[in-house]
Amino acid sequence: MDTYATLRIGDKELQLPLINGTEGEKAIDISKLRAETGYITMDVGYGNTGSCQSAITYMDGEEGTLRYRGIPVEQLAEQSTFKETSYLLINGRLPTRDELTRFSVMLNDNSLVHTDLKVFFQNFPRESHPMGILSSMVNALRSFYPSLARNTEEINIIMTRLLAKVRTMATMSYKISRGHELVFPRPDLTYCENFLNMMFDSPVKPYEIKKEVVDALRVFWILHADHEQNCSTSTVRMVGSARVNLYAAISAGIAALWGPLHGGANQAVIEMLKEIAEGKGDYKKAIERAKDKNDPFRLMGFGHRVYKTYDPRARIMKKMCDELLESLQMSDPLLDIARELEEVALNDQYFIDHNLYPNVDFYSGIVLRAIGIPTSMFTVMFALGRLPGWIAQWKESQDDPQWKLSRPRQIYTGHKKYDYVPIHAR
Ligand code: SDX
Repeated sequence: MDTYATLRIGDKELQLPLINGTEGEKAIDISKLRAETGYITMDVGYGNTGSCQSAITYMDGEEGTLRYRGIPVEQLAEQSTFKETSYLLINGRLPTRDELTRFSVMLNDNSLVHTDLKVFFQNFPRESHPMGILSSMVNALRSFYPSLARNTEEINIIMTRLLAKVRTMATMSYKISRGHELVFPRPDLTYCENFLNMMFDSPVKPYEIKKEVVDALRVFWILHADHEQNCSTSTVRMVGSARVNLYAAISAGIAALWGPLHGGANQAVIEMLKEIAEGKGDYKKAIERAKDKNDPFRLMGFGHRVYKTYDPRARIMKKMCDELLESLQMSDPLLDIARELEEVALNDQYFIDHNLYPNVDFYSGIVLRAIGIPTSMFTVMFALGRLPGWIAQWKESQDDPQWKLSRPRQIYTGHKKYDYVPIHAR
């Protein structure tokens, strides 16, 4: 097997070491390129550039494979809990029964939020987007829990505290935005049950926890738990590389996920489907617009930087839509439109040529609607699912002896040097 690549620039030859991953992925290590040649590489959007070596998640975009710490996501969605999957991602292996019990107790013990944080929530303008609130509030947690992470024990407490409190904060944001009384976490409920109860329970109408809804939420969050070096995870790693505290790094990740090209797509898909429904279901027009180079419109929930086939998560989510709606004896006209849209797109030459398939966001909104989550909170739900992945990736980068401050280079295309002209002479 080759151990290096030869780069020839002019009459100069440089041997660059090759890196091989566990699953046969290959990389050229260019860390000495600029020092030896004066050249840098250019890769807008980093589609061909690795930022790190990681043991957390493996994706194969051609095969549509996704594994967390080696375990296929399909098996975790079928058999695991979100809590156990979070432990797996962060600690690198499945917990023993004792470890899982201790993890549960730590999550319960840390699930309350300092009451002073309520004032912050109450002072956001009513129309504030929940992702903006969540990003701000996670950053604010540092002010309430200033203890630095000096050792493994303290890091574990901070990570568990985040997992416990961010879920509670998301429900607080929802309740306060509606002017409703807060509902507190209960030690007798699971992580997912507690979230639903804190969101929807009220003195006038006690919330009935339904197994099929809890199960849908469990699968939803497991499917979102990590996805290697996507935009928001790379943001968490980059911000974390400055050795900033974990709260600030996660807050930055939430901000990146907010974007409609990234995690914000689940909200954008529903808005797109609603628009089609209001236009009497004219999904063919949406397809034509998506293909029109002069139209910035994109078919939201379609396409992916890595998956050039069906996103394995979308497959599970699509199946879950049917099962959940059937068990709740519900129907959703937007699901019918989504199916027709998918059918037409997958048979359209443009989508075939561009390898555009449904991604995780295409059906996830239908599941969230069935659960009763407001559309404005769809990306918050994505963030709550991705939180263990962000934490695991941040921890891996902090533990990596090779990790250093992220600082990409550029090619300058501005003015050549010229002298300043004082304002009176201009
Ligand atoms: C997530 O990275 C991750 O892992 C992300 C994620 C995770 O779990 O963290 O999986 C979550 O973010 C999923 C993606 C959610 N976003 C959307 O659904 C928004 C709609 N999709 C796109 O905008 C787009 O597909 C991206 C942003 C997701 C990926 O785009 P790329 O890889 O940057 O590709 P590109 O924009 O360069 O497009 C390549 C071609 C272009 O056409 P040409 O100019 O080459 O002719 O494909 C076209 C694009 O116009 N194209 C689309 C399209 N997506 C790409 N055309 C119409 N509709 C689309 N959705």
